[in-house]
Formats: sequence, C-alpha cells, structure tokens
Amino acid sequence: MAPATRPRDLYAELVRTGPGAALARKAGLPRPALLRRFEAGAPLLVGPALVLTVGSGASAFRTREAGGALASLLTRAGADVQLELAEQGQRLGAVVVDATGATDVGDLAALGLALGPAVRRLAPSSRVILVGRTPGDDDVEAAAVQQGLEGITRTVGKELRAGATANLLRLSSGAGAAELAGPLAFVASPRSAFVDGQVIEVARSAHDDDARDALSRSERPLEGAVAVVTGAARGIGRATAQVLARQGAHVVVVDVPAASGDLARTANGVRGEALALDVTAGDAPARLAEHLGRRLGERRLVVVHNAGITRDRLLVNLDAARWESVLAVNLAAPLRLTEALVEADLLGGGARVVGVSSTSGLAGNRGQANYAASKAGVAGMVRALAPRLAELGGTANAVAPGFIETEMTAKIPPVLRQLGRRTASLQQGGLPVDVAETVAWLAEPASVGVTGQVVRVCGQALVGA
Ligand SMILES: NC(=O)c1ccc[n+]([C@@H]2O[C@H](COP(=O)([O-])OP(=O)(O)OC[C@H]3O[C@@H](n4cnc5c(N)ncnc54)[C@H](O)[C@@H]3O)[C@@H](O)[C@H]2O)c1
Repeated sequence: MAPATRPRDLYAELVRTGPGAALARKAGLPRPALLRRFEAGAPLLVGPALVLTVGSGASAFRTREAGGALASLLTRAGADVQLELAEQGQRLGAVVVDATGATDVGDLAALGLALGPAVRRLAPSSRVILVGRTPGDDDVEAAAVQQGLEGITRTVGKELRAGATANLLRLSSGAGAAELAGPLAFVASPRSAFVDGQVIEVARSAHDDDARDALSRSERPLEGAVAVVTGAARGIGRATAQVLARQGAHVVVVDVPAASGDLARTANGVRGEALALDVTAGDAPARLAEHLGRRLGERRLVVVHNAGITRDRLLVNLDAARWESVLAVNLAAPLRLTEALVEADLLGGGARVVGVSSTSGLAGNRGQANYAASKAGVAGMVRALAPRLAELGGTANAVAPGFIETEMTAKIPPVLRQLGRRTASLQQGGLPVDVAETVAWLAEPASVGVTGQVVRVCGQALVGA
C-alpha cells in the first residue's frame, strides 16, 4: 500500500544531519532523535537489560527473588538480562527496577542512586521501566513512597535524550507476573516508541491464563480475532488497521461513504473488508452489529472507536453546530455503537474496546472545549465499561494521542504546530503507527490486566489536536 502522505517535520530532518546538527548543538536547540520503531525480526532492545531490585519491603513477585521474576519475564520477551551493572561494556538497552518492595521514604533515594549510574550507560532508544504497586490505604508511608515513583519516572522521562523513554508499571493487589508480562514486553519494545512518562496500572485478572497463553503465541497474538476500526480511510485509523492485521486480526474498516476510495485502499492493503458507514447515522449501530454478527462466529471482537473530528473555536464563539457535530462523531457514536454490540451479545469472551481520546481531553486545550468534552467523555466511557467486560475476560481502554503527524494536525497554524512537536520530552510529533501499536497492544490477550485506563501516546507532552 502506498504510504499515506503526511506533513513532514522539516526542522527535525534539518537538525539530524551535518551543519544543521552542529548548529542546533551549538545554539542549544532541540535535536529530536530518530525513534526506533517496530521492525519484523529486530531484537526487543538495543542492548542488555539491567534488572535492579530496590526496597526495604517485600517484593510483589512471590516466586523466587524479585530480580529473578522480572528477569525471567524479560528473557522470555527476548531480552539479554544482567543483574549487575558491569564495570564497562555495551551500552544498556534498558534498566528495569523492581520497586514493588519500596515502602520506606529512604527507598526513594536508594532507587535514585541505583538508577543514576545505569541511566548514564543507556543507549539511544533505550528504556527505563519502574515496576511498583498501586498505592493502597493500608500503609500510609508505603502509599506515599509508591506515589513517589511516579515523580521519578516522569522526571527521568523528561531528562532522557536520544529517543529513550521512562514508564512506570503499577501492580494492583494480587496482580503478578502473568498480568505484567504483556505490559512489560510492550513498554520495553520499540512498539512503545512514543509512549513516555506514563503510569500503567496492571490489575489482577481471573483470566490470567489468557495472558500466560498469549506469551507462547506472541508472533501473531490477534490471530482468531475480528477487529473493527472506525475512521480508517486515513491517518491513525488506517495505521491501526495495518498493525492489527500484522498482529493477525481479520480487520473490518469503517469510514464515511465520501471516503470510500481511500477506505477500499486501506481494506485491500490489510486483506480486510470495507464498510462505508457514517458512524453518526441513525442506523449505524444496527448496521454494524448486523455486519459483525454475520462474521464473528466463535471469534473474539476488537472494537476501535477512532473516527473523530475537530471544529475549533474559543468557547465564546462555539456555535451549536460545532458542539453537536463534534460530540456526535467523537462521543455519541462510540457510546451507541458499543451499546448495540453489547445488546447483540458480540462483546463476549475476551473482547476489547479501545477508544481514541486525546491529551486535549485530559489537559484541556485552548479553542477545543467541544473536542475536549468529547475526548474526556471517551475516557469516562471506557472506565465505566471496564467492569462490565471484565467478567468475560474483556477490557475497555483508551489511548490519548498527543501531537501526531496527520492531516488533522496539518491544519494547526505553523507556530503552534512547532510548539506541539517541540514541547514533548521526545521533542517531536508521533506517527500514526505509534498510536496504532498501542491500540494493538491493548487489543492483545496479554494485556488482560490493563483495563479502564487511558494510555497517553504523546512523547510526554500535553499539547495536541
Ligand atoms: N492527529 C492527532 O494529533 C490526534 C491527537 C489526539 C487525538 N486524535 C484522534 O485520533 C483519531 C484519528 O485522528 P487522525 O489524526 O487520524 O484524523 P484524520 O482526520 O486524519 O482521520 C479521521 C478519519 O475519521 C473519519 N470520520 C470522520 N467522521 C466520521 C464519521 N461520522 N463516520 C465515519 N468516519 C468518520 C474521517 O473520514 C477520517 O478518515 C481521532 O479520533 C482524533 O480525534 C488525533
């Protein structure tokens, strides 16, 4: 399939080579790194993973010593693990810290001091991964210390350069290695290139067999799933269809009838099916449920609510049409479509619902009250859906893209567009594939412990469409 045309980040291209690079270095200007992204057959990490254990309390990993449990998960995911920082040698591909036993204020300093020398040795596009516990209310100091891990993670994310990222995985009560395996492999891998400074909660699942099982077929984990992606004629939706198909799903792509030509190209490229449908049409829920009902059989369903529009104005200038159209596409349609799929009994065993929210919905954004309302609404929708789907091993989550290079963000005025790119820790916009990889990961059986959450794909920024 021909690559979709997208706006180029000329500044980033300029400062990556020759005189442009020298000039930017001299002037102290941002020098966005070329991020390492998924490539078939490429190793998980660019160098060995150092596993450290910090904390005066007990680790959450009941099997063997703490470092051992994390080390074996990483080894299974394809990493070469070290338990001590070698005096010298290869640059590290990752440093992974088991901080689930951090309960005492002093443990935070100990963690920082242990992390420092390892961070100095990180290779470009490497990973810092902290593993902690969801703060509870039984031990106030332990809760405070576990929350402290978030401050370290988000700060390290801002300090790292050369495409390296930092994320925190937090185990809630009873969750262990089975639920952690999938999220750990994702944040370690190049698939999470634009996921930075995030806290991902990993819950215990009665369906953790799914997670264990998924590890043994991680090449095409979506084999046997049918995925429907709305707004898939271009941009993030098209990339999502491509990654879901690469991971083994049979993909049904949906977009407005006016985009039928591009939609057919997406469908052909992924050997899937096109369904021309305006998601706001009165009969859209029934038509989608009927279409999927005929195809699903015993397979599990993945629904990606990606179709979205912007109609920006300051709140004082937002007219009824701008409010109504944005809320209809971005929020009412995902609600109605999901409801119809639940009623038709199509969101059974192991189903996945993934909403596409936005950092604007989380942080607010000047000129986007309508859009932010709709995107915060998507976060509320998945939170409320999660417990309903959990009983059957299903999950509901959202991704919140920051600034992603698509036709939508190409409409942003040039100065704001530069700001959107450079204010991220990774100093650049993401690509549609970055959102797509995160959606696909949430759709996989191994992410069964991640539910009711919003995972930002924003390079650690809070500006975006
Ligand atoms: N690009 C970004 O930086 C960014 C940031 C945050 C969130 N998002 C969200 O990601 C999603 C995809 O964004 P994108 O940048 O790829 O946008 P895009 O404008 O390139 O693509 C959106 C697609 O949705 C389709 N669509 C719109 N209304 C529809 C309807 N009523 N029925 C069916 N399809 C419809 C469009 O035809 C288009 O193909 C949107 O929900 C958007 O709000 C994007």
